[in-house]
This record gives sequence, C-alpha cells and structure tokens, in this order.
Amino acid sequence: MKITVVGTGYVGLVTGTCFAEIGHEVLCVDIDERKINMLRKLQMPIYEPGLEDLVKKNVAAKRLNFSTSVKEGTEFAEVIFIAVGTPPGARGEANLSYVEQVGRKVAEYMTSYRLLVEKSTVPANTGGELKRAVTKYLRADIDFDVASNPEFLREGSAIEDAFSPDRIVVGVESERASKLLREIYDPVIKKSGCAFLEMSVTSAELTKHASNSFLAMKISYINAVSRICELAGADVEEVARGMGLDKRIGPRFLNAGIGFGGSCFPKDVDAFVHLADRLGYNFELLKEVQHINKTQRELLMKKIQHELWVVQDKTVAIFGLAFKPETDDIREAPSLYVVSQLLESKAKLKLWDPVAESNFKEQYPQLEYHPDLLDCAKGADLLLILTEWPQVKALDLIKLRDVMACPVIIDGRNVFDPEKMRKLGFTYHSIGRK
Ligand code: UDX
Ligand code: UDX
Repeated sequence: MKITVVGTGYVGLVTGTCFAEIGHEVLCVDIDERKINMLRKLQMPIYEPGLEDLVKKNVAAKRLNFSTSVKEGTEFAEVIFIAVGTPPGARGEANLSYVEQVGRKVAEYMTSYRLLVEKSTVPANTGGELKRAVTKYLRADIDFDVASNPEFLREGSAIEDAFSPDRIVVGVESERASKLLREIYDPVIKKSGCAFLEMSVTSAELTKHASNSFLAMKISYINAVSRICELAGADVEEVARGMGLDKRIGPRFLNAGIGFGGSCFPKDVDAFVHLADRLGYNFELLKEVQHINKTQRELLMKKIQHELWVVQDKTVAIFGLAFKPETDDIREAPSLYVVSQLLESKAKLKLWDPVAESNFKEQYPQLEYHPDLLDCAKGADLLLILTEWPQVKALDLIKLRDVMACPVIIDGRNVFDPEKMRKLGFTYHSIGRK
C-alpha cells in the first residue's frame, strides 16, 4: 500500500522506513529542506542503530522517497501519518500547531478520501480538534477519517521496537479506517504475533500518555527509593532486583540514576498533567514524579559540591551527553542541566560522547570535547558519568585512575561496582548505594 508520513524526525523517519521495509511504498515529507536534502543523498539527519542501512536498502528498492511538499504527500497516498513535532508549550501543554498545520494543508489538497493518522504524541481529544480543522479547510464535501496510532519506540532500539512491538494500538472511528490500518500493519502482526488493539481515538491518544507517564513514574519511584537506601545504608540495585522478580512489577525501568530525560518522558508527563488540569483533575501523583526527577539532578549537584568543595577552576570530566546510550538525542538530557550548573560555578569542563557530541556542540561550541575517554579524564579533579555508554563500562579502570589528577568519580548511572572501585583506590559515589 502507498503511505505518506509527514515529519521525518526520530519517529517519522523510523516509522516510514519500517513501513517500506515491510513492503509498503512510502513517501516521507518534511518541512525542513536540510533534512530532506540529506536524506536524498542517503545521509542520516539522526543517529538510530540500523536506520542508515534500512533507508539505503528501501530507497534502492524504490519503496522509500522524500519530499518537502505536503501537497505531493496528500496526492501520493490515501493514508497520511502525522509525525511532526509536538514540543512542550510555555506552560507544559503540547504545542499542536504543527499537527494542525499539516491537517490544514492536507484539507486544502485533498480531492478524495484520506485517512489522517496521528503518530505524534498528542493529548486526548486532539482527534476531534483535527477533524474540525480539516472539515473547515476542505475545498469540497470530501469523506475523510482521523485515527490515532501512537508510537512506543524507544530511541536506540526504535527499529527493533517497530518490527516487534508489544502491541499496536489504533484509535479508529470507521470500518474503513480500521481496515486500512490493519492492512498496513498486517506483516508486523503476522511476523511478531503482537496484539492489534482497536479502540476509540480518545482512548488511543490517552493510552500513549498513560503508558509513558507510568514508565516515568516507575523511574521516579525507584529514584525515591534510592534516596531512602542511601539514608538507610541499603543498596538500591539489590532492592530493585528483589522487587523486579515479582512478575507484577518486572525488572525493567527500575534502574536508579540521575533521572529520565529525552524528548518524550519529560514532555509527555507535562502534557498529561496539563491535560488533566484542563479537564478538571489535579494529577498530583505525576506532579510528584516530575518533582522527584528534577530534584534527582539537584542531588547529584550536591554530591559534586561536597566532593569538590570549591568548584571554581576545578577540572571536571563528563562521560556521556546523550539522554541515554545509543542515541545522539540530547533533548532534556541531564548533561544539559549539569553542564550549565558547573559553568555557572566556573568549573573547567572536558566532555566525551561517542554520538551526541555534535548536537551538544551546537549549544556549547566553546567547550572542550574529547573523542578518547582517557584523554577526556586526563588531569581531571572529578569524573561524572551521566550516560551508561558501553565504552564507559569497558574502560581500563587502572589507566583511568592513573590519568586523573584525583581519582574521584560520581556515577549518575550506577555503571560500576562500589566495592571494586574502592579497592582500586577511587573515591566513588553513585546513586542509592553505599
Ligand atoms: C515527534 C513528537 O515530538 C513526539 O511527541 C511524537 O511522539 C513523535 O513525533 P520526534 O520525531 O522526536 O517526535 O520529533 P522531531 O525529531 O522534532 O521531528 C519532527 C519533524 O517534523 C521535524 O523533522 C520537523 O522538521 C518536522 N515538521 C515539523 C514538519 O515536517 N512540518 C511541520 O509543520 C513541523
Ligand atoms: C520512551 C518510551 O520508552 C517509549 O515507549 C516512548 O515511545 C518514547 O519514550 P525513550 O525516551 O526513547 O522511550 O527512552 P527510554 O529508554 O524509555 O528512557 C527514557 C529515559 O529514562 C532515559 O533518560 C533513561 O536514561 C531513563 N531511564 C530509563 C532511567 O533512568 N531508568 C530506567 O530504568 C530506564
């Protein structure tokens, strides 16, 4: 089937490419000419393991193409996925102007039935708004549907998540829309055996916010427990293992650390709190999830302060700028907060990240970046670990200790074992452990 995807960001590009890989003919549209020109030259605007090969393969197979024209996208396919940005507004509400803009343009160019599918994360009831907007700008009385199909892709494993999802959720209002989406996902359902859940548009929209917010809550919960562990002299990793074997809890998303970042959790929790407020429910539980996440970073700054006493002119090395491993995405990354605080205290920074360096450099061009971990740590009074990249885990710790001015580590992702680090002569602090 022919499919148009509008918005070729982290979600739209992966979604469109995976649709092509399972046999559909896909046109990816984006307003950003730079991105589209890069993609036409088979250069990737984002880092996502496995994406480049898939894009090249499907462009060569003539199943994947790129354009900057929504008009072309509207004419190309009956089904149009909207995967444009829904960034947080000033008060935390989701900015839906780009979604509305796409709806208006499609309405302008439509000459026959179209199914508009919300792929971007949008608050409940957006479907109704989008329907009203399209109806208002239609040139003629043309039949169309709006559906919701939220994505559950984790950056760094987005392709794997796309091909073997736990579930596919679709919010539909017509048999025609349901049939089209089932046909699109049929190869994935057959191959992965995953559930294909049909529900109302509003329920599908809410499923996304509720899922992401629950995962964020799970992380803030274990981070709150990590503080009690530090006060009680317990080990949060041991507690998490003890909890995670309960099938109702599960072991994943129980890693205590400096907290969650990324372009989804912080934004989706804010948007969900805002939606609840607007509907008349005060979602205090999620406000506490946000508070714990915010203060988790502040706690890490207190550990730095305690270790350095005087931060000014001290050399601080930072391993990891991306909000998590295997991505170049620094949106809401803890590193942005930590670096701004340390610069305010006039520390001298040395930064390392194997993939996110160029994105970080756009915001902090004047800082010192090192492609080599030991060079980065050389002469440092303190080392901060903010992203658990595998290269950090594989590091020769004797060499690391010997290049540092002071062998002091504050590990925001509990990468190393406290006992082992102490035996090697490090002063080692981590999260929720002795
Ligand atoms: C976006 C949403 O932010 C997220 O909430 C949702 O879950 C999935 O889609 P992401 O793909 O990470 O996530 O956004 P981003 O990387 O910013 O990509 C959005 C793309 O839309 C950009 O390439 C932007 O150029 C494009 N865009 C934006 C359009 O093509 N048209 C517009 O009008 C606005
Ligand atoms: C998330 C959701 O997992 C995905 O389903 C949704 O579609 C988009 O948002 P993503 O933000 O890419 O995916 O990454 P994820 O792996 O969920 O991690 C999010 C943040 O939580 C990262 O900053 C990570 O460091 C942090 N995290 C994750 C923890 O601090 N502890 C954990 O145990 C797990």
